[in-house]
Amino acid sequence: MNNPQNDERIPSMSFISTCTADVIAQAARALKDGHLVAFPTETVYGLGADATNSAAVARIYSVKGRPADHPLIVHISSMKDLGEWAADIPEYAIKLARELWPGPMTLVLERSELAKDFITGGQDTVGVRVPNQPVALALLEEFKKLGGAGVAAPSANRFGAVSATTAMAVGEELSNYFGEHDLILDGGPSQVGVESTIIDCTNDLPRILRLGAVTSDMIQEITGLKVMELETSPTIRVSGSLESHYAPRAKVILDAIPKAGSGFLALSNVKTPNGVIRLASPGSLAEFAHVLYESFRQADGLGLDEVVVIQPVGNGLAAAIRDRLTRAAN
Ligand code: TXA
Ligand code: MG
Repeated sequence: MNNPQNDERIPSMSFISTCTADVIAQAARALKDGHLVAFPTETVYGLGADATNSAAVARIYSVKGRPADHPLIVHISSMKDLGEWAADIPEYAIKLARELWPGPMTLVLERSELAKDFITGGQDTVGVRVPNQPVALALLEEFKKLGGAGVAAPSANRFGAVSATTAMAVGEELSNYFGEHDLILDGGPSQVGVESTIIDCTNDLPRILRLGAVTSDMIQEITGLKVMELETSPTIRVSGSLESHYAPRAKVILDAIPKAGSGFLALSNVKTPNGVIRLASPGSLAEFAHVLYESFRQADGLGLDEVVVIQPVGNGLAAAIRDRLTRAAN
């Protein structure tokens, strides 16, 4: 792959590949000054802005091309700061945070005064997450030292498109919309590869709003509570639960026999049909999640018309992968 720093096609932004302490401090300063910083997390790359700065947050929406009433997740460096953003935190949410943060889990809680309408989309709840990625945590720590309270960050892709799991992919998605002071931090590929599990903690029982690597079984084991079914609620807006999302340009077709020339993605124990372009052969569910979005990007890079995906079976991460695939196919 080209070294992005030398890539003339991406003139108006900075890739920073070696995240030294100086670079992280510079990025934290950029956030504090109201600029955007795309940064790696273990799930997908995020497009960050100071979560208390309405003008900076407004730029997230314009760079993403996202409708303005969709709420954003606030990223913090430690669960100690949860009380800044959330009020009335139930005991089971504290247990989840203690066990699973830093990690691929977003808790939706009653909001504090700090969480303004431009973060929550006008809802009375706020989504908060502590990501498990060293560059992300260092950035959030530095930002806090500068007096920052939290970093709002949606996935760093255009609205409805495939999430970015590498700095290069962020550049492809967003560079045309970036200003000269905006930054992309390169922390290598996102380990998990699908977005965080979102858990609504505003009722007596936890309710999963978006499937991810933190599974219903894990939540049940930690909280001792029954986990409510995933359902689409008309009163809560989760853009990741729109029917069409995460979609590449290529048509995504599920569990079908591919025609020659199609892209093909399946677990490694599925044989490659004749004449297809095998995009990846993940050996496990974790690897499937890890390669999913890059496989879609690869298909688009190759100009393929369609990608056939053989869906993994089972619960947990398999269900999260199928959730993304179903929406990508819509
Ligand atoms: O893994 C992730 O969660 C990544 C990384 C960057 O942290 N972020 C991410 O953000 O996927 P985004 O904006 O692409 O998706 C977040 C989802 C949206 O569908 C949004 O509607 C939902 O979280 N959300 C945020 N705050 C919420 C709230 N208060 N109530 C319900 N849903 C909320
Ligand atoms: Mg997203």
